[in-house]
Amino acid sequence: MLELGNKVVYQIYPKSFKDSNGDGHGDIRGIIQKLDYLKGLDIDYLWITPVFVSPMNDNGYDVADYYRINPRFGTMKDMDDLIAGCNERNIGLMMDMVFNHTSTDHEWFRKALAGEKEYQDYYIFRDGTPDQVPTNWQSKFGGSAWEYVPELGKWYLHLYDVSQADLNWENPKVREELKKVIRFWKDKGVKGFRFDVVNVISKPEVFEDDLEGDGRRFYTDGPHVHEYLKELTANTGIADMITVGEMSSTSLDNCVRYSNPEEKELSMCFNFHHLKVDYKNGDKWSLMEPDHMALKKLFEDWQEGMQENNGWNALFWCNHDQPRIVSRFGDEKRYWKESAKMLAASVHLMRGTPYIYQGEEIGMTNAHYTDISQYRDVESLNYYEILLSEGKSKEEALEILAAKSRDNSRTPMQWSAEKNAGFSEAEPWISVIENYKDINVEKEMQDPDSIYSFYKKLIELRKEKAVISQGTIEFLERDNADVLAYKRNYKEEELVVFNNLTGGKIVLQMNLEWKTYHKLLGNYESSSRDEKDGRNEIVLQPYETLVLEK
Ligand code: GLC
Repeated sequence: MLELGNKVVYQIYPKSFKDSNGDGHGDIRGIIQKLDYLKGLDIDYLWITPVFVSPMNDNGYDVADYYRINPRFGTMKDMDDLIAGCNERNIGLMMDMVFNHTSTDHEWFRKALAGEKEYQDYYIFRDGTPDQVPTNWQSKFGGSAWEYVPELGKWYLHLYDVSQADLNWENPKVREELKKVIRFWKDKGVKGFRFDVVNVISKPEVFEDDLEGDGRRFYTDGPHVHEYLKELTANTGIADMITVGEMSSTSLDNCVRYSNPEEKELSMCFNFHHLKVDYKNGDKWSLMEPDHMALKKLFEDWQEGMQENNGWNALFWCNHDQPRIVSRFGDEKRYWKESAKMLAASVHLMRGTPYIYQGEEIGMTNAHYTDISQYRDVESLNYYEILLSEGKSKEEALEILAAKSRDNSRTPMQWSAEKNAGFSEAEPWISVIENYKDINVEKEMQDPDSIYSFYKKLIELRKEKAVISQGTIEFLERDNADVLAYKRNYKEEELVVFNNLTGGKIVLQMNLEWKTYHKLLGNYESSSRDEKDGRNEIVLQPYETLVLEK
């Protein structure tokens, strides 16, 4: 079985990573130019978000051809060179498989629209008149999840954008087509796969209105999803490769099944519950400070629940859909460096496989855009209109977008203090963040105390210490909302990790025998243990992370 505990994955959003040909748009050659940078971080796998032919309504998550590379990103030769470049450096390339839907530009959908019954059965079409929407389900990007095609007298389902039509996994031909795609990329030397929103692929037999919600309860972790994943894995020979499923609104029980090696479905799951603790009443498009108690409880439930049932977590804060964590759960103004390091340590030292999203390792922040014309993301643009239609002022809507938009993570990678942050010679497709002169790779690589150096250290430690890669986890200070603390154990080894989630000083009374521990890692110079008068006290500075080793 593939050992995953000591591996680290780096995620690239190619459009914003590095532009090699001066068109303001990142590309595959740009990634190749930076492979030595990635090797320097000592990551094991590289996941790139989709670079396939696509109209790019959802930046490539609307795939029009799974076998061809979008010319904006390069050619198949570039892709082959990227795979080879990764293999030479012992980095495994992971491709992003968007299998819940295709672009409406995909040949299959075009044939369906042209009236070919065979291809209509590749998607989820329902007969009806324009006033009879099949169900009241909502698209995740806002508005109805159904679109009417007058020429056919039918509606089709799209859980995401109207240009992303959901595939019909009930149809064995669809499943065969998707397996072919996996085999194709596997044969090219790709070493793993990330499966986009893969827990919503299995729709219910009967489509009915959701009187309680937006419809997700009918298709999330749907009726045949485990069966389909087992079939996909078995028939493509990827059981021994690294595979991660992106799970939308999933449950612990299901993630145990998806990731327990005995089930032979996937190696691990992304779930997003811990990233909803700043959603007011579950609404992403609202403003709320993170609820630390809820965050802690989620980590406890998921870490311990997966551990007890032999499941495996993907550990992460950031990706191309999430605002930057330092701006979100940290304090990018007063404690930028401290909070970025604390947030890094808090997840990297848990049980699971950590993922680093481009720019996270240098503490990149939210974009702080102030005008709607600066946004590019389809979801943000849709919700801006929705917020206005709900009666919010422009200022209020922009404030919400500034905190919540996916574009916060899609700004160009900050390589240097040069023009356009060293991302491109030309005007980038989306604006560079103004702080790039202070926050950039070149600067941080020279500084042993930088966020970058701290990430490097975390990666190094995971490879060095079995207690991090294989140890058990047990949470401490469960009732204290301000501190995320846990203990890791493996044979004789023990680590105790304290993370101050707040910008205030915290004093803890602990039942630990201080003398038996030494400081392994931290983001403050001085030791926080107060051994004066034999008191068992620990003082944590704002956003301090302190890792003690027995
Ligand atoms: C996933 C992707 C996101 C995309 C959506 C639809 O959530 O991460 O970027 O918009 O799926 O494919």
